Amino acid sequence: MTTHPPNDSLRPTSRRRFLQWLIGGALGLSALAVARATGRFLTPPLTGEQPQPVTVPNPALAVGGRLYVAEARAYLLRDSGGYFALSAVCTHLGCLVDERNPGFQCPCHDSRYDDQGRNLTGPAPRPLDHLAIAWTHEGDLVIDPGLVVSAEERLSPVS
Ligand code: FES
Repeated sequence: MTTHPPNDSLRPTSRRRFLQWLIGGALGLSALAVARATGRFLTPPLTGEQPQPVTVPNPALAVGGRLYVAEARAYLLRDSGGYFALSAVCTHLGCLVDERNPGFQCPCHDSRYDDQGRNLTGPAPRPLDHLAIAWTHEGDLVIDPGLVVSAEERLSPVS
């Protein structure tokens, strides 16, 4: 009669260890997923770059129109007073706001702004920045994302 050594993998202690390892691994992965999601929530996608002036070729917005200018991280808008530019950088923690109709909404913590960039709800502590804009001789419009101006400033359309 042949006797075989007991199979360690079938022992209750081995199964218990395997289950402990499996549960520990699942908990560890869950903790990593939660930590990653929390980190993304708390750290918005800011880049350290200082944006440079951006030229928008011959913008022809109707009153009430708007145009997102990605290179400037800004919206170019026109109201009855003329053209103005709003920074798309949320004043809470710097995420880029999305267009809504009306206004804008931050995807990070749900701050909302009206069409003039005034903060309405959410954690944003102040309105979106209004950015300097100017016409070139060629009829193009330059947005300077590094220069904040008064919310009342408007640029008349070129005739
Ligand atoms: S970054 Fe927090 S609401 Fe926009």
